[in-house]
Amino acid sequence: MNVLVVGRGGREHSLVMKLSESKQVTNLYAAPGNGGMQQQAACIDIDEMDIEGLVVFAKEKSIDLTVIGPENPLNAGIANRFKEEGLPVFAPTKEAAILEGSKSFAKEFMQQYDIPTASYAVFSDAQQAKAYIEEKGAPIVIKADGLAAGKGVIVALTKAEALQAVDDMLVSKAFSGAGSTIVIEEFLEGKEFSLMAFVNENQVFPMVTARDHKRAFDHDKGPNTGGMGAFAPVPDVTEEDLQFSMEHILKPTADGMLKEGRPFTGILYAGLIMTAEGPKVIEFNTRFGDPETQVILPLLKNDLVQVFTDVLNGKNPQLEWEDQSCAGVVLAAEGYPGSYNKGIPIPAFNKTESTFIVHAGTKLDGTSLLSDGGRVLLTGAKGNTLKQATDTIYQLLKNTKDQSGFFYRNDIGR
Ligand code: AMP
Ligand code: GLY
Repeated sequence: MNVLVVGRGGREHSLVMKLSESKQVTNLYAAPGNGGMQQQAACIDIDEMDIEGLVVFAKEKSIDLTVIGPENPLNAGIANRFKEEGLPVFAPTKEAAILEGSKSFAKEFMQQYDIPTASYAVFSDAQQAKAYIEEKGAPIVIKADGLAAGKGVIVALTKAEALQAVDDMLVSKAFSGAGSTIVIEEFLEGKEFSLMAFVNENQVFPMVTARDHKRAFDHDKGPNTGGMGAFAPVPDVTEEDLQFSMEHILKPTADGMLKEGRPFTGILYAGLIMTAEGPKVIEFNTRFGDPETQVILPLLKNDLVQVFTDVLNGKNPQLEWEDQSCAGVVLAAEGYPGSYNKGIPIPAFNKTESTFIVHAGTKLDGTSLLSDGGRVLLTGAKGNTLKQATDTIYQLLKNTKDQSGFFYRNDIGR
């Protein structure tokens, strides 16, 4: 089969690595890809938002399966266009991707289908939003309705912060159109975890759980980032929590989308929080999570091409998982998530059999690998326990020279 992965980050490199193991793959392409992917895939210089360019490429190369990484092309209708052209694609249509693309849609949907989540209200008028905050008090959470690259959520610990967030989004238009409607919701407390599933209409096949670390610095200090590390599975999520999440969250979501005339095919990602009343939804994504994917796929025993094919054909892919833990620590450019330098030489890692490197912001300059983003790469390892996996990673990082210009968290999975 000829397989195309759309995207350029760590999630997509992880997909490329897993897909490249499949004996069914003849040609593997990534568009646009990154410096690290070139080992396993041919990187094609087509932007992930150039949907027509990708359609033309897929037809030209007789692509048998396309997997889409990021949310923006999904919301722009890339799956719709591929389907119109008869090109097999594992991704939701824009009508289904709205579950991530509009937080107000997701909240109304959850309310209608009785899916546990924080109570909320939707506003586009700043005065009304502020009156609601005055009434409810803090802590309280303010969210831009649309896609804001993971930056559109303000967890306001004080009323002043909440009122400021309303001004930023509705008055100063900090997220332009994405923030012209906002969701204000109840602050929930508990440990978070991510649960993803392969979905085709009403069929839901869950993966193992993962937890990511979103803050920049140790002990969850510093600004929010795209994710500084992750591990899977999450030891504190019980079998009962998982069953509840399948029965009351993932399955009713797939069923509800079908009833809404928005059948969902692709990866359904539930960001969940363990409250005293059980798991509740913090957010839905309609794609693989980053960096969760980088620590989940290495535990999957199945051929990933076969999994996508089976799910698309309405067959149970019979997912099998290694009875191990997997962790990943992100190496980021100093200054990230604020401003940072690019073009820093990537250190040479002495990889062992149990470790792996997933590239995110890297590029090849001749034969040298240079940094090309804030989150540069992820160092990962598997182990019989989570501790063994993280110890292996930190050993590798400690033994790696020439890390100037980069930083990482010392407490991932710990
Ligand atoms: P999101 O982009 O929706 O995942 O939100 C980013 C982060 O904000 C989440 O991972 C949570 O840590 C936090 N968050 C979002 N919604 C809530 C909420 N209702 N209560 C507490 N924390 C929240
Ligand atoms: N790890 C969170 C996300 O992919 O949005």
